[in-house]
Amino acid sequence: MISIEIIDRKHCVALSEIISTDTELAKYLHGPDGEIKRVSEYEFFETCKKWEHKKGGYCYVVLLNGDPIGTVSYAPLKDNAEAAGVGFYIASPYWGKGYGTKLLKEMIDILKHKGYKYVTGSVPKGNIAPKRVFEKCGAEFKEDKSRYYPIIRLQ
Ligand SMILES: CC(C)(COP(=O)(O)OP(=O)(O)OC[C@H]1O[C@@H](n2cnc3c(N)ncnc32)[C@H](O)[C@@H]1OP(=O)(O)O)[C@@H](O)C(=O)NCCC(=O)NCCS
Repeated sequence: MISIEIIDRKHCVALSEIISTDTELAKYLHGPDGEIKRVSEYEFFETCKKWEHKKGGYCYVVLLNGDPIGTVSYAPLKDNAEAAGVGFYIASPYWGKGYGTKLLKEMIDILKHKGYKYVTGSVPKGNIAPKRVFEKCGAEFKEDKSRYYPIIRLQ
């Protein structure tokens, strides 16, 4: 079962291990030539908190039967406070099992309850999986040369 909750220090041992060792995931987070580097649980938590403070957003852990397998975060858009921009990842051994779609649906429910009208994101054109995840959650897309910009309207 997939669930999400606000990241706590206790999740950061597992999350920092994923981010420090998952070379498949690193290709999407840092680009094909991006270097993977070891991140401590302390650094991981501090980075989340700094990001939240800077963006006015929140970082959630993605749990599979209670175990951390990834994160999803959101922040209100600077130019449209009715819209939340989201980003997410899960560890590569868990790809292709529907978990990405489940975590975004969970996030969408939370954002609906918080009163947001739109959910959006930014997906590089070479990255098919998140585009498909947004599509399965009802997104329409704008695009430019290099990226898709999904828009999900919340009822
Ligand atoms: C994005 C991510 C969370 C998706 O997680 P997931 O659990 O694999 O997602 P799902 O299983 O719910 O759905 C993935 C969909 O993409 C499709 N897909 C994935 N790779 C594909 C490819 N190369 N070609 C065609 N379809 C592909 C899958 O078939 C599936 O669609 P389907 O259900 O219609 O068959 C995961 O791939 C990830 O962490 N990627 C790296 C980080 C990242 O790119 N984050 C987004 C940044 S914008």
